[in-house]
Amino acid sequence: MGELPEIHKGLDGVYVSESTICKVDGTAGRLYYRGYPIDDIAKNSNYEEAAYLLLNGKLPNGAELEDFSSKLKAERELPDKIINIITESAGKSDPMDILRTAVSYLSIYDNDTKTQTKEANLKKAIKLIAKTSSIVATIGAAMEGRSYTKPDSSLGHSENFIYMLKGKKPTPDEVKPVEMMFILQAEHSTNASTFATLVAGSTLADLYSAVTAGISALKGPLHGGADEEALRMMEAIGDPSNTEAYINDALAGKKKIMGFGHRVYKAYDPRAKIIKGYLLTLQQNPSAEVKRLTEIALRGEKLMIDKLGQTHGIWPNVDFFAGPVYVSAGIKVDLFTPLFAASRMAGWCAHMIEYWEDNKLIRPLELYKGEIDKKYVPINDR
Ligand SMILES: CC(C)(COP(=O)(O)OP(=O)(O)OC[C@H]1O[C@@H](n2cnc3c(N)ncnc32)[C@H](O)[C@@H]1OP(=O)(O)O)[C@@H](O)C(=O)NCCC(=O)NCCS
Repeated sequence: MGELPEIHKGLDGVYVSESTICKVDGTAGRLYYRGYPIDDIAKNSNYEEAAYLLLNGKLPNGAELEDFSSKLKAERELPDKIINIITESAGKSDPMDILRTAVSYLSIYDNDTKTQTKEANLKKAIKLIAKTSSIVATIGAAMEGRSYTKPDSSLGHSENFIYMLKGKKPTPDEVKPVEMMFILQAEHSTNASTFATLVAGSTLADLYSAVTAGISALKGPLHGGADEEALRMMEAIGDPSNTEAYINDALAGKKKIMGFGHRVYKAYDPRAKIIKGYLLTLQQNPSAEVKRLTEIALRGEKLMIDKLGQTHGIWPNVDFFAGPVYVSAGIKVDLFTPLFAASRMAGWCAHMIEYWEDNKLIRPLELYKGEIDKKYVPINDR
């Protein structure tokens, strides 16, 4: 028998492709979109510009951004059938299941689904980015019993998202955190959902099929679902003074604390630093709810870093402080992961389009450990 192959469980440490979209420096705790540090993008940019950058590889000039933004605006409306799917399922199904179904259904309205040119795929990406945001807003509205709000083309991407979600024009205090989260969650290299997108697309299935696979992978609590779980934990802790006992008990029971740890970052996630920084600025005039959640989050952060930070490389990730920030903007917990998907749509599409430039079917191997040459026994003799 030959030498046994080395198995990289969870593809840990395995490089699957080359890319110029995103660098995650897990040791230094740095993140770059197309070479630009995430802090600069979060501070100076908006989601439209970040999405343009990810898809096109360069920052747009004024005319290019204007053109890209108006193309996004033109694609915000949802077909009636999709609005009906959302309205009929809201409150009965998981919002991520509704989102996955609705995004998958979008392909029916695109005559170009099978055209695999870069130009056609960039057009599809714009449709997907614009409409996924509208779908998520409509799911959130329907869950609260509100009917579809038509998009408003005088509003930017994040503003329009909140407008369609709440049915009224947002305040700057609502827009700022949502814009920040849209930017910070837009891209993060070949994580589970991006890889799922690439696996589906590497068969030369179309972009709609590929990103639907991405949404499926994002749903789980080990990936995008962690932001919801982190907030639910804070709700379960209840009073800030319970934080240490709750987390210590959970760790003693070998439970994972959602919003901590990362496959690549063995340092403080730079996105979590930005989100925490924003949360602290809210402390000048917080609602009682945001104040309580922030106190729990800060106590939890300290305990986890003291216990597992330096020793085990387990630090807060993007999902830990996101919950209190969303709460401050009036976004309900069920919508956190769908909103993550709406933002990540830019990254998924950028990666898929890049990968197709030099496509190779993704098909790893597994080491078969079962028996062979077993004798088939007819059913009546078993
Ligand atoms: C993200 C994550 C899946 C990365 O996992 P990974 O690289 O596969 O590493 P593992 O899950 O094998 O964890 C390695 C060790 O650290 C521990 N660990 C990792 N994350 C932990 C957490 N959030 N809380 C407590 N312990 C944790 C594991 O229990 C394991 O300990 P062990 O070696 O004693 O068994 C993991 O850190 C996790 O589950 N975090 C919580 C979910 C989350 O926040 N996901 C969002 C990521 S952006």
